[in-house]
Amino acid sequence: MLKSHGCGELRAEHAGEQVTLAGWVHRRRDHGGLIFLDLRDSTGLVQVVFHPEQEPAASAVAAEVRNEYVLGIHGEVTARRAGTENPELSTGAIEVLAASAEILNAAETPPFPVNQETNVDEVTRLRYRYLDLRRERMAGNLRLRHRVVKLMRDFMDERGFIEVETPVLNLATPEGARDYLVPSRVHPGSFYALPQSPQQWKQLLMVGGVDKYFQIARCYRDEDLRADRQPEFTQLDVEMAFVEEEDILDLTEDLYHRLAEEVRPEWTIPARFPRFTFAEVMERYGSDKPDLRYGLELHDLTGLVRTAEFRVFTQAIEAGGRVRGFAVPSGADVGRRGLDEYVELARAAGASGIVWFQFAGEGPLDGLTADEVKSPAARFFTPEQAAALGQACGARRGDLLLIAAGPDALSSKVLDLLRRTVAEQRGLADPAALSFLFVTQFPAFEWDADEEKWSAVHHLFTSPFTDDIPLLERDPGSVRSHAYDIVCNGQEIGSGSIRIHSREVQLAVLRTLGLTLDEAKLKFGHMLEAFSYGAPPHGGIAPGIDRTVALFAGERDIREVIAFPKTKSAGDPMTGAPAPVSERQLRDVHIRLAPDAEEALAEQRAGAASTE
Ligand code: AMO
Repeated sequence: MLKSHGCGELRAEHAGEQVTLAGWVHRRRDHGGLIFLDLRDSTGLVQVVFHPEQEPAASAVAAEVRNEYVLGIHGEVTARRAGTENPELSTGAIEVLAASAEILNAAETPPFPVNQETNVDEVTRLRYRYLDLRRERMAGNLRLRHRVVKLMRDFMDERGFIEVETPVLNLATPEGARDYLVPSRVHPGSFYALPQSPQQWKQLLMVGGVDKYFQIARCYRDEDLRADRQPEFTQLDVEMAFVEEEDILDLTEDLYHRLAEEVRPEWTIPARFPRFTFAEVMERYGSDKPDLRYGLELHDLTGLVRTAEFRVFTQAIEAGGRVRGFAVPSGADVGRRGLDEYVELARAAGASGIVWFQFAGEGPLDGLTADEVKSPAARFFTPEQAAALGQACGARRGDLLLIAAGPDALSSKVLDLLRRTVAEQRGLADPAALSFLFVTQFPAFEWDADEEKWSAVHHLFTSPFTDDIPLLERDPGSVRSHAYDIVCNGQEIGSGSIRIHSREVQLAVLRTLGLTLDEAKLKFGHMLEAFSYGAPPHGGIAPGIDRTVALFAGERDIREVIAFPKTKSAGDPMTGAPAPVSERQLRDVHIRLAPDAEEALAEQRAGAASTE
């Protein structure tokens, strides 16, 4: 090794020891002759001091280096003089007196500072990701990711699961998102698809007698990217035979308790993760992934406003909708601009607006007078009626009510958005809390208006409630399924379900989804066949690892916990992927580009030429 210790490992007890260190020059300060260098490696920073009079050769080297040069030094660890210790730094009690130094490699000036957290635009960060990864936060995130994945592996192993790898070149069977396709050279005109998840393989493993499977599995989906979505991402993929829903939920809860205890012992986490049905969370929070770090629960006000002369509400109710709202504690201080902003948000979400009430004063709402109620709809409600609306939402004087009217799907969307906005603005979510919950009993199907057919809410292998099987043909919309999500702090962290293990039920579900018997056999023949050879009852879950690590790292964007992520347009600014390939490569896989692709490429080339 070119070093005896990690830079960040040295402590007071090393004083007097001779050490050899190697790393990057993090920062250099020249102090009237003395040179102070912070030397950095993956273990952290240490201060190295060069005395020009005592060690002229080493000091000459130190005088020459710039930030990010790779430097090796040899010297003695000494305690820092009293008053010059740095308690912020784990090595802050000591420094190393350099006796010799050698430049191991020079470095260009980096395109952004590596030694501080400055805002750098995404493309530049990804273009020079290897420099970005040297930054403290990113290095910490990678280490955290390693720990989380190791804890997951250890936990699954302890519970008797075995890790099995599954193919990446697969038959294309749409699971929801678009597939990434790989053309076959050997089979002209045929394609593999990259797995959107190992869903079918893990079920086939159950039929194969592996009754406790897991895999740290890479998944690929060609979908629109957001802060919580990457085109390739990683799941802790889990499947078990002979289980019921509760078993999978308990296992998942134990896993997340273990992770939290190990990596965030100081954060709060519920002793038992509350379990809500889909219908319950939609009613109480307007979302299937509510953030439970704060209240702001929704309440049904339909009964209270039915007889009011307020057309916005009565029309919505006559059209079969409802009126729902929630109270914002101390929200009476929100000014006109803030309220207009809420209305605009609601409009952007598709509503015609929202109605707000503000109550003046302090204490309970009893005895409210007309001049204590502020609302654009004030003249349609007596103060008593306004107070009743507030009370139904648990409001007091000094609070704000936000109310939406319309079909549930719309009011849920609007109120969920407002709930999250208010919480964000008011800092209601504790950053050191992990508010885990499970959502169960998702509907099995939803109507896809564009395609004019039913589609599976989770996926088509999800078991419907046995009692609801007769509804598959008559009323697919009301079939409940054994699908569940683990949710934390307003994010879906993982999803799973108990699966169908009967050939007949699987066929009935495929029929509901609009597949003919022939189509079903063509796409899922292998699954149907496997089910006819004694498939055990089974179920599983797949927590997203990127989202899990981001949660524990306190990062909002999963790209912060992925070493080499893609941009929002699924590109890699460093390598230039995706990129055109040679005619020859295309010919090998029997592909000719369509005219629009040729045109796009020609434009791209012309653009590149003009900037050269
Ligand atoms: P699902 O599609 O819900 O279920 O995915 C499970 C979890 O994977 C993560 N995830 C993603 N993470 C980053 N980028 C993406 N594009 C992305 N898409 C999904 C999320 C999500 O909760 N086979 C089923 C699981 C099962 O039924 O067992 C599946 O893949 O954290």
